[in-house]
Amino acid sequence: MILQGDALEELRKLPDKCCSVCVTSPPYYNARDYGAADQLGTESSPEEYIRKLVEEGRMEEAEEMLGMPYTLVGAVEHGNHIGHTLGFPTVNLLPPAGKLLPPNGVYYAAVRHNGKVYKAISNVGTKPTVSSEKVMGVESYLYDFDQDIYGQEIEVALKRFRRPERRFGSLEELKEQLDRDIADGRNA
Ligand SMILES: Cc1cc2nc3c(=O)[nH]c(=O)nc-3n(C[C@H](O)[C@H](O)[C@H](O)COP(=O)(O)O)c2cc1C
Repeated sequence: MILQGDALEELRKLPDKCCSVCVTSPPYYNARDYGAADQLGTESSPEEYIRKLVEEGRMEEAEEMLGMPYTLVGAVEHGNHIGHTLGFPTVNLLPPAGKLLPPNGVYYAAVRHNGKVYKAISNVGTKPTVSSEKVMGVESYLYDFDQDIYGQEIEVALKRFRRPERRFGSLEELKEQLDRDIADGRNA
């Protein structure tokens, strides 16, 4: 039996011994306990508040309320294959239109593949330096990973915002920034 809202609050007031039903509370129902009451207001539901946090790139707060990082799952798609020439092979997810995504930018991340979790750094956006198409993607560089996994399923957990996505003047400038992103991300 799952209790929520007022029923759950009433039950919580009872001494433990009186309670013979199993009370499960998804982590996000603790929104108000996390001091989010002011932001939640009376109109907004916890789900709406978590959506707002993700839309604003506040990934640590979203993770705290979800009880897990905000995660995207999908099959690895082909990119433009420029990553290899830059020296940074990456894996691309193309989320369906309308999928909730944080603002375009670079995020410290973790990627699960085949039951193993790899530290990663991800770019959410349209890669404006190398593409004029406005296709939203989530592209990740995985540390200490060297496999061809096109077509295979991965889970990308976006954990912390690093910087906004930018349009660089040249591939060299993009590569210099990626060097810094990847070096910093290893110790993040
Ligand atoms: C950590 C990271 C940060 C990135 N930042 C940007 C960026 O700010 N601007 C941009 O145009 N592309 C950015 N990209 C995407 C690169 O343009 C892309 O990795 C490269 O062009 C290779 O893409 P491909 O595998 O589709 O060929 C980033 C990618 C990663 C992994």
